[in-house]
Amino acid sequence: MDETQPFQVVYLDLSHYDEIMALWQRAGLHIRPAGRDSVEAFARQMATGVQTPIGLRAGEQLVAVVLATHDSRKGWINRLAVDPDYRRRGLATRLIALCQAHFQAQGIDIWTALIEEWNQPSLALFASAGYTLAQDITYASRRSHAEV
Ligand SMILES: CC(C)(COP(=O)(O)OP(=O)(O)OC[C@H]1O[C@@H](n2cnc3c(N)ncnc32)[C@H](O)[C@@H]1OP(=O)(O)O)[C@@H](O)C(=O)NCCC(=O)NCCS
Repeated sequence: MDETQPFQVVYLDLSHYDEIMALWQRAGLHIRPAGRDSVEAFARQMATGVQTPIGLRAGEQLVAVVLATHDSRKGWINRLAVDPDYRRRGLATRLIALCQAHFQAQGIDIWTALIEEWNQPSLALFASAGYTLAQDITYASRRSHAEV
């Protein structure tokens, strides 16, 4: 690995689906191939116009990715993942900053992420990026079917 290698910012689209999935798998994210991570679901999400995948490349290789989405009120930082070989070099911090700039350009000034309580690296990351970690919010969700 070349430590001096610059990381190139890339705005991704549906054509990058396979490399995004491969990176999420390398990073250990739980993938729902029959649900919201299927190529059909990803295509539908992209067609809404509110999902922007942002990546960082080391040469040709995608080594970090995030999905910036918004609901018109809040910007959501989703599925942030860094290749295990490229961690603790500030790549996730850089992607968070890129998401923030993306949201701000659309007039969205509150930026949010859902983080599972066990995920200490991610909690530490968002705290270090200046995010307040709520202690008094419960995430409620319901699914129309099991695979979603
Ligand atoms: C969480 C994750 C995205 C962090 O990526 P990263 O590029 O290594 O993070 P950064 O280098 O930008 O870290 C910035 C700061 O966050 C904190 N941090 C990041 N990873 C940490 C870890 N494993 N343990 C403790 N603190 C950590 C540190 O304060 C770090 O600063 P430092 O390296 O100067 O100490 C990466 O570990 C990952 O992909 N994990 C698996 C997927 C995941 O859980 N995604 C989050 C979903 S909400």
